[in-house]
Amino acid sequence: MDIVPRDSFNREIDYLRVSVIDRCNLRCVYCMPLDGLRFLPGPELLTAAEYETVARAAISVGFRKFRVTGGEPLLRRDITEIVERVARLPGAEGLSLTTNALMLPALAGELRRAGLTRVNIHIDSLNPETVERQMRWGSFERIWAGIMAAEDAGLSPLKLNAVVTAGYNESDVVDLARLTIERDWHVRFIELMPLGGGECARLSIARYVSNVETRRRIEAELGLMSEIPSENPSEEARNFKLRGARGVIGFISPVSEPYCGTCNRMRLTADGKFHLCLLNDDELDVRKALRSGAGDPHEEVAKILLKAVALKPTGHHLLEGRSTRERSMFQIGG
Ligand code: 5AD
Ligand code: SF4
Repeated sequence: MDIVPRDSFNREIDYLRVSVIDRCNLRCVYCMPLDGLRFLPGPELLTAAEYETVARAAISVGFRKFRVTGGEPLLRRDITEIVERVARLPGAEGLSLTTNALMLPALAGELRRAGLTRVNIHIDSLNPETVERQMRWGSFERIWAGIMAAEDAGLSPLKLNAVVTAGYNESDVVDLARLTIERDWHVRFIELMPLGGGECARLSIARYVSNVETRRRIEAELGLMSEIPSENPSEEARNFKLRGARGVIGFISPVSEPYCGTCNRMRLTADGKFHLCLLNDDELDVRKALRSGAGDPHEEVAKILLKAVALKPTGHHLLEGRSTRERSMFQIGG
């Protein structure tokens, strides 16, 4: 039987989300401000070889699932090498990646060949004007071309993520949900979370829309949905289907329906820190161990990762107005 690391709340932690860059070619209103951003200098980012060492160590202590995130991970010039090094490791159960799709027309095929199995694509609306207001750079047409490229490359099941934001896309959710009637995609609606304490965190509080409301809005237009029981206990989305639909509608509701009790995640930031919980500042440095030259890096990383699992907190404090202050979403990767 496989051994999976458990934290102090007896949760099995076997899923590592790896952020490979903090830059992005979009500026979503709730994620990145237009001014005042400072990014990590190149040498502070882990290298493709260092990610491989971390992933190998993670597998050796029982991790099975991996996701590459950013910022926008396709901005890394060595993204194909990173994917290849992690995806081919024995013990890794497939590799997925979260992206805004802008660069998928150029990269989807080679990423698939390098071993990528799935992508989650962030798109807040099918209305070009909303996309321009909410995601600011890029355009609907370019994101859609990326979605088509992912589908053509066989990266499936395709999952689309929309962050529902009052005064921007809260009525566009119906058109997004309608996509699932004809296509076997997952379209998921995410509740806003305030991270980083700056203007985006303030906007995320002010523009919050509960998924209870989003679901009601969809059902009022498209009819009642039926819930699909989850096969995976740590699935963060509650999944539904419209009558006769091919695809799935998911609701990720960290605020109105927290799922901390079944969290199975550990996160690695682009500068090599294990970030213990998305909504908390606790971190353990792993880059130092990778670069110190003392001891066997594989063993050192495995030790730090097990310590990170043991220290993983539970129960967020969003409703009391407490969250991560030190980092924003683009610095953790969602
Ligand atoms: N609240 C909720 N989700 C967010 N994302 C980015 N910022 C926020 C926020 N403030 C989502 C994006 C992306 C994923 C990594 O996180 O949709 O797909
Ligand atoms: Fe970029 Fe994703 Fe942040 Fe939008 S939410 S700015 S696509 S990292």
